[in-house]
Amino acid sequence: MAIFQMRYRYLGKQKLKVSAVGYGCPTFQGKLSGADEKEYIDVVRRAVAPGVNFIDTADHNNGNNEELLARALKGIRSSVVLTSKFGNMRGQPWAEGRDVDGRPEYVPVACDASLRRLQTDYIDLYYLHRVDPRVPIEDTVGAMVRLVEQGKIRAIGLSEAGPGTIRRANAVHPITAVQSEYSLWTRDYEADTIPATRESGIGFVSYYALGRGFFAGALRGSSNLGPNDGRRKSPRFYPENLERNARLLNELHNIAGAKGCTLAQLSLAWILHQDENFVPIPGTRKIAHLEENLGAAEIVLTPNELAEIDKLFPRQGAAAGARYEYDRSGELNI
Ligand SMILES: NC(=O)c1ccc[n+]([C@@H]2O[C@H](COP(=O)([O-])OP(=O)(O)OC[C@H]3O[C@@H](n4cnc5c(N)ncnc54)[C@H](OP(=O)(O)O)[C@@H]3O)[C@@H](O)[C@H]2O)c1
Repeated sequence: MAIFQMRYRYLGKQKLKVSAVGYGCPTFQGKLSGADEKEYIDVVRRAVAPGVNFIDTADHNNGNNEELLARALKGIRSSVVLTSKFGNMRGQPWAEGRDVDGRPEYVPVACDASLRRLQTDYIDLYYLHRVDPRVPIEDTVGAMVRLVEQGKIRAIGLSEAGPGTIRRANAVHPITAVQSEYSLWTRDYEADTIPATRESGIGFVSYYALGRGFFAGALRGSSNLGPNDGRRKSPRFYPENLERNARLLNELHNIAGAKGCTLAQLSLAWILHQDENFVPIPGTRKIAHLEENLGAAEIVLTPNELAEIDKLFPRQGAAAGARYEYDRSGELNI
């Protein structure tokens, strides 16, 4: 790995110290083979060794991802800011017919199960994964505050929450970070969510920072997607949309080439330049990609370069296709 000094950022009023580029653990359905598990563990440990301390996972997919992460963090758990999430019930065997669950009685149940799977006594930053429209946010966050008081979690986060929810939640207890999708082709939250985090001094964590591989140049057409690749379900990756979207990358490639960096580094550096409170959590299963992504924190973009990128990927309408199939159901940003 190139020698560089790891850079850190500080999230929320609590000033939670996290590496400027975090690591988003890839999500797996089911059990991994021995070789795949070893590869996963090697990447996590390779991330932590030079100082990547911000490690992101969630309890979905049957909790397998937390169990796997616990194995990867054996002996080094205390050197990371461990995050997890609850309440997104899609595909959970314990969902009981709910898509989201923010009921106060469910919060400690979910947390205890995550602690058990993560083999730890505390989670540094615990997110409500999806806001439950049937439960006042004050009640969900109130239950999370009790977890803070019990020492089971150290900080509270929200994922994909809208501005009104963020303000109400923050009135109950300081919210340390909001995690939402944010990248060059998903800038919608600049209109409302991001201003709400800024006004309250809340950190902003960007997931799908590489557009699920798109901004690493890994996907030029749908032929790159395997038959069971989950991205096939996202309208942006439908064949006709993906081809159109891929054409947008050519110019970005040129900017990266002139800058002497890769497309992935440029895309992550763009996020880092939006605000000192922004932290991307790109995911990868490959050590070479991890190392490449960490290099993004070294890149300084000029105002001209930022303006050029902004022109290519304006806040609205750059990408063809919605990000989720269920985008229109109103589940996100509530
Ligand atoms: N809060 C939420 O609701 C929510 C929802 C979804 C995801 N997330 C979190 O977001 C994090 C990241 O998500 P993600 O990994 O799916 O999306 P991502 O970071 O946008 O993209 C990851 C994809 O990019 C590829 N990639 C990464 N670096 C690369 C590089 N330098 N060159 C070429 N390809 C590269 C990876 O493939 P390789 O493995 O081949 O490198 C992988 O396919 C995870 O922690 C996840 O939990 C949160």
